[in-house]
Amino acid sequence: MQKSVLILGACGQIGTELTLSLRERFGSETVIASDIREGAENLMSSGPFELLDATNYEAIEDVVMHYEIEEVYLMAAMLSATAEKFPMRAWNLNMNSLFNVLNLAKEKQIAKVFWPSSIAVFGPNTPDEKTPQNTIMEPSTVYGISKQAGERWCAYYHKKYDVDVRSIRYPGLISWKTMPGGGTTDYAIEIFHEAIANKTYSCFLKEDTKLPMMFMDDAIRATINLMSSDPKNISVRSSYNLSAMSFSPKEIAQKIKDQIPDFEITYDPDFRQAIADSWPKSIDDSRAREDWGWQPDFDLEATTREMLNNLS
Ligand code: SER
Repeated sequence: MQKSVLILGACGQIGTELTLSLRERFGSETVIASDIREGAENLMSSGPFELLDATNYEAIEDVVMHYEIEEVYLMAAMLSATAEKFPMRAWNLNMNSLFNVLNLAKEKQIAKVFWPSSIAVFGPNTPDEKTPQNTIMEPSTVYGISKQAGERWCAYYHKKYDVDVRSIRYPGLISWKTMPGGGTTDYAIEIFHEAIANKTYSCFLKEDTKLPMMFMDDAIRATINLMSSDPKNISVRSSYNLSAMSFSPKEIAQKIKDQIPDFEITYDPDFRQAIADSWPKSIDDSRAREDWGWQPDFDLEATTREMLNNLS
């Protein structure tokens, strides 16, 4: 029998595409989607769905027992910009959901866990070009602090209790199927929607703010590859650096202008500028390349093409 997997936070930006992709690969019935709210129609209609609060241990345990779940992907989280407004709620959600899943694995109720970390684990004292796997971190946002603490707990549960937990430090993820919610890199998606709808976009970051980014298809492929890798190839049990491209608002606006010549961008930086300024500009992901053969497919050119074609 095909193993069953559970996605917590399946209706979010990453969860939606991850669920659809896992269902395509492994069959609809063995990929259980869950979230505290219902999601997109194609997600809801393509396989089993459970209303589930990721902070409720007993509720997750019931679903795990019912479907004989072997792997959990924990995609529920509060992102960087929203977390600055609700620090304690962000900490509760981001940490308690992780402990729930790690403890289920510790108790041998599930065999494998995926948990996403982020470039937000880095801070203003981190070397910001080609940021190494192991370096000064010192995150300065609530979200980043929760991700860094989470990474340490993942490494701890692996070492101490032999929990098979795997993780990626995602850069900003660009996708067209589901909108992001409350992140600092969200501008790189909003800009496409606005360019198509209104031919103009007011950006909440300054024009030269360069950040690491990735097209969603690459992120999903990386996630599934990491989860299917032989454990002996996984040398990082905190979280892997992962990279595809880096660009600034000015650079992505230029690429859009190449396709939509009368598109105009203006800049009106807000509190998210300080968050972006504390994050790296580019990431060294050589460990992921060496350990499990990571290689991105989409650069800025290809991403722009995919976004404009699919949203138009
Ligand atoms: N994209 C996320 C954010 O902006 C970073 O992990 O919060």
